Formats: sequence, structure tokens, C-alpha cells
Amino acid sequence: MHYSVSDKPINKDDSDCLVIPYAQPAELKPIAQRLPAETLSWLADVLEQEHARGDKSRTLLLHRVPGVEQRIILAGVKKTALNDRAYLKLLNDVMSVLGETNARTATFYLTHVDVKKRDTSWKIRQAILAAEESAYRYDETKSKKDHDKVPLEAISFHLAGTESKDRCELAIKQGCSIAEGITLTKDLANLPGNICTPRHLAKQAEKLAAHEKITTTILDEEDMAELSMGALLAVSRGSREPARLIVMEYKGGKEDEAPIALVGKGLTFDAGGISLKPGASMDEMKYDMCGGASVLGVMQTLAQLELPVNVVGVVPSSENLPDGDALKPGDIVTSMSGQTIEVLNTDAEGRLILCDALTYTERFKPARVIDIATLTGACIIALGHHLSGVLGSHQKLVDALIKAGEFSRDGVWQLPLADEYDEQLKSNFADMANIGGRPAGTITAACFLARFTRKFKWAHLDIAGTAWKSGKAKGATGRPVHLLAQFLIDYANAG
Ligand code: BES
Ligand code: MN
Ligand code: ZN
Repeated sequence: MHYSVSDKPINKDDSDCLVIPYAQPAELKPIAQRLPAETLSWLADVLEQEHARGDKSRTLLLHRVPGVEQRIILAGVKKTALNDRAYLKLLNDVMSVLGETNARTATFYLTHVDVKKRDTSWKIRQAILAAEESAYRYDETKSKKDHDKVPLEAISFHLAGTESKDRCELAIKQGCSIAEGITLTKDLANLPGNICTPRHLAKQAEKLAAHEKITTTILDEEDMAELSMGALLAVSRGSREPARLIVMEYKGGKEDEAPIALVGKGLTFDAGGISLKPGASMDEMKYDMCGGASVLGVMQTLAQLELPVNVVGVVPSSENLPDGDALKPGDIVTSMSGQTIEVLNTDAEGRLILCDALTYTERFKPARVIDIATLTGACIIALGHHLSGVLGSHQKLVDALIKAGEFSRDGVWQLPLADEYDEQLKSNFADMANIGGRPAGTITAACFLARFTRKFKWAHLDIAGTAWKSGKAKGATGRPVHLLAQFLIDYANAG
């Protein structure tokens, strides 16, 4: 999709569809006043009927409007300033109505809607993300590729003239780059486990290195053995697909500047191993690589935005399957850090592959480390599907993520990383167990990772509830690419 800003008056607008907000009680936003008189009076009639119906804020698609050639979408908003959610809902409503037309071009006058504490560039960025979300189609493994093709090709955002055009253009650049990262993440995540294997993920990471600022290095199982990554290799033993450790370095900042490390769980299929999962919905465990996919997505966004930061992305990638040679409950493995782990449940494999990846990350002397993982079902019980969990050892980093989450609307909620919980990991036979029992499963998982991040300013994102949707609209969400991109934009701005 192509996006632009425009300050043409509405009577000079030549796009196929005008998306105009109207306020409740029914009156057109002043922006429409330049439409021909017959159009205005016809629209006023429509709004009067709407008002009489008592509908609060419908989105109306109008054809054959007198005096104009275009279709008009009237988008109802409350007279007072909207909150973020109401604006995002408005965008979704507009996108689905727009999808019913065959308009190729549209002008959004929605930039004139008041959204509490948000400026035009925020409204533009969110509109682009909503448009790309509604235009997203997964067809990689379908035989008919052009299924349900979206005719919309371009959206123009109308400016009142008071805002900085440069900032709005930047918002378009940011919106498009973030959307591209989200799309890459969704595409990878939606692929089935038989296609998106650790080797496939590694190949995609190598493709990213086509960008001059990105270098990709892939470690195979031999390399891992040399590094004594006993935990990561133990998970991979139950699978015939060889594991990979994917390392992507983006150099946008100063040569000697310490990087931000993003460590993403890339478990391409989690059957649970010998602690086999129940069959229902097990297909969704192809999404257990969403943390890793989001790291690739962010790399894509960074390259597109040319953000002045250094970022290293580390993605341990493996399958978790039951096999005669698989890791068994009770087995003890030695991690790269030297710490030993009693594996009481082979289904708690994410932390096993992540702990070695985290220790590996030490060599980059990172300024901050954020890991991203579909780590615990318990996180879905705690937070549902709206907010990701965040826990960390460095409160300023956690705060920065919370702030980036509020701005991006790809939100997080903090859970406590208190010492007390760590005791649940006690083992009689090793330095720690890999599970801490049923209570506070998300927290004990983070406590486990904390034992491998003592040298870092570190935060952990549990995206088990937010990385994909189940049910009829089953599919990856691309979260938390926007959150991470916003965090990095803020970090770069803070210098
Ligand atoms: N990948 C799963 C977590 C998960 C489950 C994410 C369902 C999204 C939906 C992870 O590897 C896992 O199996 N965790 C176990 C940990 C338990 C054995 C301590 C879980 O959450 O049940
Ligand atoms: Mn598991
Ligand atoms: Zn898993």
C-alpha cells in the first residue's frame, strides 16, 4: 500500500473514497464544509436520520452522493476527544467498510479526529498499521494465491496544516517499516512446522543480511557442542531436525556503542517432548517460534528505518518432540553457563533453549537484554490475550517497555520477579529444576531465566497470550514487533 499526506482542500480531492468523521450529536466535522452545497445538505439529511435512529457512532458507506463522484464513508465519533481504543476501533470499522468497496484510493480525514494526548503522527502511524492488518492475507501454502485480493492501493492522510509535515512523513516511514516487520513475523509464524523448521528460520535470517547494515551468523549443533550448550542441545535431541542458533547483528549506531540484545524463542514446534502435550489445539504449537520471528521482524523494521542503534538478535531454534533419544523427565543437563538443570518436565523447554542463548549473548557485552518468548500457558491465565507479561531485573528497562507498550498499543503488564518465587526452582539433584510447580508459572519461568542474566540489565516478555489468535481468526498477530520497534525508537532518541 502506498501512503502520503495531503493538504488539498476536500473539493479538490480526487481519490475514490473520502473517509470523513462526523461528531455526535450528528454534525459534520468542519473539514467537510468545502464540499458542494447539495452534497452537504444530502449528508446532513443522512446524519439527521442517523441521529433519529439513536445510533451512537456508526460507520456508514455512502454511494451515489449528489454533487461528488466519490464514495463517502462517514465515520461516527463522540464529540469529546476519543481515547486510544476508541480511535483504533474507528480505524478497524473504517477498514472493514472500505474493504467492501472496490476503491483503489482513499483519503482519510480521520487525522482531524481528536484523540486524547495523541498528535497527528501517532494517528497516522496507527492508521497505517490498521490498514496493513486488514490487508494482510496468508496465502503461502494455498494453491490459489490471489484469493480475496484487496483492491485498495493508496491512502492519503489529510493534514489540517497546523502540524509539521516532516513529522507526518516520518510517521508514514515508521508506520510502513513497522508494518513490514509485523508482516514478516506473521508470515514466518503462520507457516506450518514442516516448512518453518530451524533451518528455514535460519535461511530467512540469512536473507535479512542482504541489507548492508545486517550481518547474520548461523551456528549449527557442532558449534553448539563446542560452546557446551548442553541445555539447548538436550531439547533438540528428541527431534530429527537439527537445531540452529541464529545471530543477526544490525549496526546502525556508532562502532563502539554497546548493542541492545533481543533474544527470541524459536521453537518451531512444541509437542512437549516426552512430557507430551494433550492433542487438542496442538497444531498451535507451530507458533512457539513467535518470539524468534518477532526478532527477525524487528531486524527488518530497523533496516528499513535505518535507526541509529546497534542491535543484536539471537534466536535459538529447535523442535521439541518425543523420540527414543529424547530428553527424559529427571535427566540432568549442564548449561553453557556451567549451571546444572534437572529437567522435571520436558515441556518446559523454552527456558532450556533460552538459557544457553542468553549466556551466549554475554559476548556482545550488551547495554540491555530483552528476551521474547511464548514461554508459559500460565501467562494466558494471568493476563489473557490483551497484554504481554513483562518481568525484569532492571526496573528502568521494564518502565521503558511499559511506556513503549502504551504508545504503540502493543501493551505489556508487569509481574513481580521477587526472590521468594525463585525457591520453587530448588532441586535435590542439580543446581535448579526447570519447573517451579503450578503456582505463579510465569514468574518462576522468569526466575529461571534470571539465573542466566545476572550480568545484564535484562527484561523478559512472555507473549504466550498475545503472539497469535485462536479460533476462527486463527493467525499470528505480529506482536510484539511494534512494542520493540517503539522501544528502540525511544532508545535511539534518548541518545
Ligand atoms: N510453549 C509452551 C507455552 C505455551 C503454552 C504458550 C500454550 C502458549 C500456549 C511452553 O513450552 C510450555 O509448554 N510451557 C509449560 C511449562 C510447564 C511445563 C511448567 C506450560 O505452560 O504448560
Ligand atoms: Mn513446552
Ligand atoms: Zn514451548
